[in-house]
Amino acid sequence: MSLVGKRILLIVTGGIASYKSPDLVRRLREAGAVVRCAMTEASKNFIQPTVLAAVSGTPVVSELFDPIEGMDVGHVRLAREADLIIIAPATADILGKLAHGIANDLASTILLAADGPVLIAPAMNPKMWDHAAVKRNVATLKADGYQFVGPESGEMAESHEAGVGRMSEPLAILAAAQSIFVASSAALAGRHFVVTSGPTEEPLDPVRYISNRSSGKQGHAIAAALLAEGARVTLVSGPVSVPAPAGAEVKKVSTAAEMLDAVDAALPADGAIFAAAVADWRAASVADEKMKKQDGQEELVIRLVRNPDILATIGHHATRPALVIGFAAETQDLIANAQRKLSSKAADWIFANDVSPAQGVFGGDSNHVHRVSHDGVEDWGGAGKDQTARMIVEKIVEHFGRAER
Ligand code: PMT
Repeated sequence: MSLVGKRILLIVTGGIASYKSPDLVRRLREAGAVVRCAMTEASKNFIQPTVLAAVSGTPVVSELFDPIEGMDVGHVRLAREADLIIIAPATADILGKLAHGIANDLASTILLAADGPVLIAPAMNPKMWDHAAVKRNVATLKADGYQFVGPESGEMAESHEAGVGRMSEPLAILAAAQSIFVASSAALAGRHFVVTSGPTEEPLDPVRYISNRSSGKQGHAIAAALLAEGARVTLVSGPVSVPAPAGAEVKKVSTAAEMLDAVDAALPADGAIFAAAVADWRAASVADEKMKKQDGQEELVIRLVRNPDILATIGHHATRPALVIGFAAETQDLIANAQRKLSSKAADWIFANDVSPAQGVFGGDSNHVHRVSHDGVEDWGGAGKDQTARMIVEKIVEHFGRAER
């Protein structure tokens, strides 16, 4: 089972087995999870925070009283935002704290603030694992509903002692994490989505046009992620070179007017996601012949007229899909502009992305989106476009509700 879009908080405590933590992060991310790491002070004796930051792609947290940007009660937010918390390696110390409700550092405080599943991968010397106090703590934690993977028997990394105490291998921890989540495949089976993707091309004459640098990577990734959840997808695509995902019903268009017609024809749909970079303007008249420059001509004035706004049209449509999602490509006042578009285009959610040239979003492989809805603004952080697409689709699955399927 994939962990697509699952937010996993990995708590690393101070054991030699923490050398396996970067591999675990990598495995979790390969399975589609968004991983954040929290470290205890002791764990920093075994592994550098920079290593976990690099493999997770997110800063590591470790200080209870460190101001975390935008988080007033950081430990509560970290605990609540996670779909699953994994403690790996989990020392006798963290087991003892958790079993007795002690919260005196960031890791133990997060654990007490958590209300979701917690998976514990203990790692300690066999004599410690066998100690009556540790056994009592483990029994208490199991009775409280905490889930365990391992420890395994074998030789200890730090000594030649053998016995039960080795942390489970990352693949075993990954499998245990996967089994915690309900299978999510086909969560959108029976639902139809329309996705727009790529640029439009607005002709000036038979050989020239107005367009932009959209590659279609984001829209196509969203279509692929919807298909992976069993949805039927109509992909209305401007001219792009990225391949269309297998299984999508692809409508190739060139201009904004054609895109609107194709979207309209694809309705009804349960949801529509407008990731295309539609040209706002088109030439008032398209020359039949290639426009020739005249001798001495120093400027050319082209009159442009507004294109239809596809998102706004569908947002106000008689057969409006139940969920209408747009993007906002902004180079300034990101959130305020996205909020304006949310209202004016009658969207349910807008994914705001900063498309300043330095960000390399148009045509690039990654972005940093904020989900703007009538309930507020969520910062989803930087991610690859595939990952952003999976997170969007996970949110869509949540919106429609698994229980109804
Ligand atoms: O294709 P990539 O290289 O992967 O890049 C992805 C992207 C940057 C193009 C994508 O993430 C994105 O932000 N798409 C929206 C680009 C855009 O046109 O934004 P906008 O703020 O101008 O428009 C707001 C919304 O209205 C968008 O959902 C857009 O699709 C829609 N719109 C805009 C104008 C118009 N005439 N019709 C529309 O439907």
